[in-house]
Amino acid sequence: MRVIIQPDGDTIAALVAESIVDLVNEKPNAVLGFATGSSPLGIYRELIKAYREGRVSFKDAWGFQLDEYVGLPADHPELYRNVINRDIESQVDFAEGRVHAPNGNSEDLQSAGDEYDAMIADAGGVDFQILGIGTDGHIAFNEPGSSFTQGTHVETLTPQTREDNARFFGGDISRVPTHCLTQGLGTIMEARKVALVATGEGKAEAIAELIEGPVSARWPATILQHHPDATVLIDEAAASKL
Ligand code: GLP
Repeated sequence: MRVIIQPDGDTIAALVAESIVDLVNEKPNAVLGFATGSSPLGIYRELIKAYREGRVSFKDAWGFQLDEYVGLPADHPELYRNVINRDIESQVDFAEGRVHAPNGNSEDLQSAGDEYDAMIADAGGVDFQILGIGTDGHIAFNEPGSSFTQGTHVETLTPQTREDNARFFGGDISRVPTHCLTQGLGTIMEARKVALVATGEGKAEAIAELIEGPVSARWPATILQHHPDATVLIDEAAASKL
């Protein structure tokens, strides 16, 4: 696992976006793994800028989201499918039907998870996975105690994660869904390249565990220590407990 410490999130975003631009220019049908949360937003802004400057086209690329809330209405602004559509998909030139999310409104969530893993495999597997990290060390929505080998599956969100994400739901934790459909750690580990980005002191403990702790389901992100091509990009505040 490579660790890159930079002074701020903008520098990190520019670095990650440049790697993605290079990849897509080299492999136009690259499969990109999109994360939600605030951490990847700078990367999306840089990708949109590169597209507008004519430095990259996504017309043959694919996008697969990490996770989705269970039970949010299709037009809910915080449905992750809508978030990714708003923050990146609709602002560049992805072809119709090329960006996907797990279906958190399926009648049979586990079948929807299995179908999602099959779709990723059919597209050729994820070439570049963008990741954030939760304060409890979760990646995607794999909460502490998650299996290291599972595919896309249903998770119960911890009170901590619901509290962290309440800011996207008007600060009201009761409006944050209790469950989600998430790529498993097994799915994420199959991505050929992974870039995990984190900024701010709130992430410092999770980052210290990720980089210096033992590999343990207590801190799900630690499985990335076994990934053959994972880079952790953090600012000085997120690195403050190393
Ligand atoms: C959510 C997402 C994760 C993300 C995490 C951190 O829980 N499911 O993929 O990493 O939030 O979010 P933020 O980047 O806003 O701190």
